[in-house]
Amino acid sequence: MQKKSNTLALKRKARNARHWALITLLEFHEKGQLLLEPPSRFDRNRESSLYRLFVFTVIRHLSRLDRLIFYLTEKEATRLDPEVRVGLELGLAQAMTPERVKPHAALHETVELMTWLGHEKLKGFINANLRRYQREETALTRRLGAEPAAIFYSHPAWMVERWQAQYGKPKATAILQANQEQADIHLVIRPGLDPEALRAELRQGGVEMSPTSLAVEQAQGLFDLQRFVQGDLLVQDLSGQKLVRLLAGLPKESLLDACASPGGKLFHAEWLYGGEIRRLVGLELDEGRMQRLQDNHKRLKSKAVLLMGDAKQPALQEQFQLVLADVPCSSTGVIQKHPEIKWGRKPEDFKTNQAEQLALLQGLVPLVAGGGHLVYSTCSLEQEENQEVVNLFLAAHPEFQIKPFAPGDEITPEGFFQALPRPGQMGTFAAVLAKKQP
Ligand SMILES: C[S@@+](CC[C@H](N)C(=O)[O-])C[C@H]1O[C@@H](n2cnc3c(N)ncnc32)[C@H](O)[C@@H]1O
Repeated sequence: MQKKSNTLALKRKARNARHWALITLLEFHEKGQLLLEPPSRFDRNRESSLYRLFVFTVIRHLSRLDRLIFYLTEKEATRLDPEVRVGLELGLAQAMTPERVKPHAALHETVELMTWLGHEKLKGFINANLRRYQREETALTRRLGAEPAAIFYSHPAWMVERWQAQYGKPKATAILQANQEQADIHLVIRPGLDPEALRAELRQGGVEMSPTSLAVEQAQGLFDLQRFVQGDLLVQDLSGQKLVRLLAGLPKESLLDACASPGGKLFHAEWLYGGEIRRLVGLELDEGRMQRLQDNHKRLKSKAVLLMGDAKQPALQEQFQLVLADVPCSSTGVIQKHPEIKWGRKPEDFKTNQAEQLALLQGLVPLVAGGGHLVYSTCSLEQEENQEVVNLFLAAHPEFQIKPFAPGDEITPEGFFQALPRPGQMGTFAAVLAKKQP
């Protein structure tokens, strides 16, 4: 029986990013759920950003860190006292990010965590193991190179196997590698603004930008910048941006985004195709997410109509030329941004999601005008949620047929859009289903 930590008592005395990261990780190991502290918890942006760095580095590299702990202590990490395990994970994670944390700080601050926890006697143990890691890093890293992909790239073994079977080994390895990168934030800018001038302006505002794109490498302060607050910038991953651009050729005098929040696709479509769209509607089921959608709507000064409702049983009495069903899914395409996803999924989830996704498409059928299009999209890498959903839907709805995207990069032989995770890009799948004229 694993010892449980008294995280409530720890929360009362937590003072800095390391304390909070330790508590969040203890809870993550205990409950299998990531419950992040809000930025308002921290006095300064820097503390909040360090907290997220610590938590996400440990979760992203979990199997790798735990294997290093095994090399060092000759004990499975899961058999150690949870506070010692997390202490070592945090110490090693900091040693892996020397650009943010100096090696002596990684060591000293982690040893001090033991004092904070009341484990004076363990200081020597933590100190000795972290020092040994620093001395033998090259040899230990080489040893990791001989581990299976699931350990080396820190993913569940079943997930690695399913991607290898689905995509072949080279593509699966590329996905695993991309997932281990820290995700950038990608921006879309309001049409008419000069990207070069804007990049320079953001840099001046202290936001670290990629030299070649509108990717933000260090987002600290981004959301407080006047440009952001006044609604000239939209956050959207690259594959989402590509999908919106791929909709260029489809008629869209009336457009419904049936699963709209936070509104990346809805508002980007408004920016790109506003001249063509006469009626733009965003539908959202969840109250909390509706609030987020409304906040973005206000910030971006959008003219879209927002409605709360269930796309499975929509109350709308009208039809749209273009209906976007960007459905909830397992999100295995966005592990780069949310590394906790890989530890929270089970193989049986995908079929369960499939039933929900089909019900959603089914609910939207009456809203698609004859001659119009239904665009189905997910951020899943799993066939059950992508190709299978499309095939099952088409089998039940002969009035629809696939309208293939023009051949090109990231277009499958069937004409689906399938962007796989790459460094700086997350995964997206999309299919256009054309409805016949009645
Ligand atoms: C993948 S997200 C959509 C992302 C959004 N299209 C974008 O590009 O920013 C799916 C959204 O669908 C919402 N949703 C889930 N079930 C729904 C339903 N039955 N009807 C309407 N919205 C639903 C979720 O709350 C979530 O906000």
